[in-house]
Amino acid sequence: MASEPTIQIDQALYRQVCGHFATGVTVITAVDGGEPVGMAANSFTSVSLDPPLVLFCAGKNSSTWPRIQAAGSYAVNILGGDQEELSRRFAAKEGDRFEGVGWRPGVTGSPLLQGALAYLDCTIEAEHDAGDHLLVVGRVVELAIEREEAPLVFFRGGYAALSP
Ligand SMILES: Cc1cc2nc3c(=O)[nH]c(=O)nc-3n(C[C@H](O)[C@H](O)[C@H](O)COP(=O)(O)O)c2cc1C
Repeated sequence: MASEPTIQIDQALYRQVCGHFATGVTVITAVDGGEPVGMAANSFTSVSLDPPLVLFCAGKNSSTWPRIQAAGSYAVNILGGDQEELSRRFAAKEGDRFEGVGWRPGVTGSPLLQGALAYLDCTIEAEHDAGDHLLVVGRVVELAIEREEAPLVFFRGGYAALSP
């Protein structure tokens, strides 16, 4: 198959432009080999209502993604405005991400983090190749709202508060 001509896009500009799209922040969690694993992700989005499908993008260099993949299920924990530290911790390479973090298993066994605004517990429905990432489609099997508070917002490479 002939490959498409590559249009050169400046990578720094690409990051800056995409950073102008404000998102919420989630922590994607799973249990692999009896151990809780998780990573911060702002690529979460809802996809389909019937059947209920959601999506996040996993970097191909992620060391956590293969462990979520092995689990076959994951929970999407939607962070509150007071959980910036949790987001930083679940994006950091160093340290035990779950140290001192309260959680309980959801129906799939995936960790539901204490203090999250809401969660969706999912089984992995499909994976699609997309450049240096994978699109991971999850089928929602259980979900709930835990707290009606302001969300954590990611904007222009930093955290922002959402004023009422
Ligand atoms: C706000 C925020 C959003 C992120 N979103 C994603 C994402 O959608 N997908 C992804 O693969 N990594 C994302 N990351 C990076 C991961 O959290 C993590 O740093 C990266 O996967 C490396 O850790 P790992 O090797 O444990 O996966 C995000 C980081 C931050 C701080």
